[in-house]
Amino acid sequence: MSFYVTTPIYYVNAQPHLGHAYTTIACDVLARHMRQRGEDVFFLTGTDEHGEPVADAAHALGIEPKELADRNAERFKALMPRLDVSNDFFIRTSDPEHEARVQQVLQRVHDNGHVYKGLYEGWYCPRCADFKVENEILEGNLCPIHEIELVREKEENWFFRLSTFQGPLEQLYAERPDFVMPRRHFNEASAFIAQGLQDVSLSRARLKWGVTVPWDPSHVFYVWFDALLNYYTALGYARPGEDLTDRYWPATYHVIGKDILKFHTVFWPAMLMAADIQVPDHVFVHGFLLGSDGRKMSKSLGNVLDPFEVIDELGTDALRFYLMRDVAFGSDGGVGMDAVRARYEAELANEYGNLASRTLAMILRYRDGNVPATATDSELTAEFDGLPEHVASLLDRAEPTQALEAIWQRVRRCNRYVEERAPWVLARDGGSAPQLDQTLASLAAGVRSLSVLLHPYMPASTARLLDALGEPEFAYSHASFPASVNEGRVSPLEPLFPKRGQ
Ligand code: ME8
Ligand code: MG
Repeated sequence: MSFYVTTPIYYVNAQPHLGHAYTTIACDVLARHMRQRGEDVFFLTGTDEHGEPVADAAHALGIEPKELADRNAERFKALMPRLDVSNDFFIRTSDPEHEARVQQVLQRVHDNGHVYKGLYEGWYCPRCADFKVENEILEGNLCPIHEIELVREKEENWFFRLSTFQGPLEQLYAERPDFVMPRRHFNEASAFIAQGLQDVSLSRARLKWGVTVPWDPSHVFYVWFDALLNYYTALGYARPGEDLTDRYWPATYHVIGKDILKFHTVFWPAMLMAADIQVPDHVFVHGFLLGSDGRKMSKSLGNVLDPFEVIDELGTDALRFYLMRDVAFGSDGGVGMDAVRARYEAELANEYGNLASRTLAMILRYRDGNVPATATDSELTAEFDGLPEHVASLLDRAEPTQALEAIWQRVRRCNRYVEERAPWVLARDGGSAPQLDQTLASLAAGVRSLSVLLHPYMPASTARLLDALGEPEFAYSHASFPASVNEGRVSPLEPLFPKRGQ
């Protein structure tokens, strides 16, 4: 089966920050997991380069929008390998292939009769590049996202007849209760639709930095429609000489933050219907990372967690683990350097890392590095029973935090098993050799199963560990806890998560 997952494409008016890393890492966990299951995966991320937010930021720096876009797109691109993100393509909306396909699709929307010219007047946030409807506006006429003053804008432009999709959208939501996940965001989107949809502007007359409207070249498309279409256009040119559209469309998951819900759950499916294109399977909406003080992360408040600081101090896997573990995916949650260090110490170093080093060290010391070929402990086997299936079903619903918790319970179980069996006691008594064999074989089996399951979260450390276990096999079938293990050899391993200097 094909599995197509996307991140939002990020604005190049600023540099990448932790929020961008968060969504991208979550998508990477899903993509890597699906690849382990043998699915035909395509994972897309990229940058949103047109529109006022970028044009204004460039203007403020005294440079052309394209120059700012080039500069910051490079930074976003460079972020991906630093996060160990395995995207299959990186789209930039200034790619000429993207622009051409946006024109094609929106021309079809026009030809299908869903576009008209009209006068727009309303309250506009230049940072969102969005006209706000009455009930969204905060007291004092402020943008609900940026809390800056909205501007009164009046402009003749092209409109998309969103209102005619009221019925079709209601039907979509009635038929597909998992179109938007989790449920409370489904409800939020349904409520927005239920209020009655107004037509939305599709073009801007004053702006030059955008995709030209083919039937009226004095206009460019409103940046949001250009941006949303990235998910579709990328498949047309990601692989030179090949069109991947039939293979991967409709997308399985659009993963987004809750700030951009309306665009993805209302405008986007309507636009696709208007263009006779299938709507995606699911939009998954996650919450906001908050500063350690519980307020929205912001540079001026000084409560931002810098992803590069975490990577430099504790490594990429620690950042990935922390973000998937500490902030329940789908909810808001505070983040901070102290919390990252605490999880690193308590869970990565003392639990998973310790389990790994004890297991390898004992096999090396007591059995000369040979994993005993024997049946595994039936009680421990039972504790792992159904785990890979459970983890898979959680990740099918984009629940990486819950899946990680289910895995972690077994990390702890294995450490308790070491204490219960006390292999160092068994090793003193020659008569206990069969018990020691079984204990070591069971631990090797447990560590292997856990590392295969944890691989999407911490690709580098788990690969090192599986390598030391003599079985660098990542396919999901290897996540099952076996009833018996075959002979194998392990090799020594430096600590996966070394204790930091006190
Ligand atoms: O909105 N917590 O781009 P953007 C969690 N270009 N996630 C966060 C976050 C936070 N504090 N801050 C940002 C845009 N994000 C448009 C999208 S898509 C067709 C166009 C993440 O650079 C989250 O995924 O403002 C959010 O939706 C996205 O970054 C917004 O990135
Ligand atoms: Mg934003």
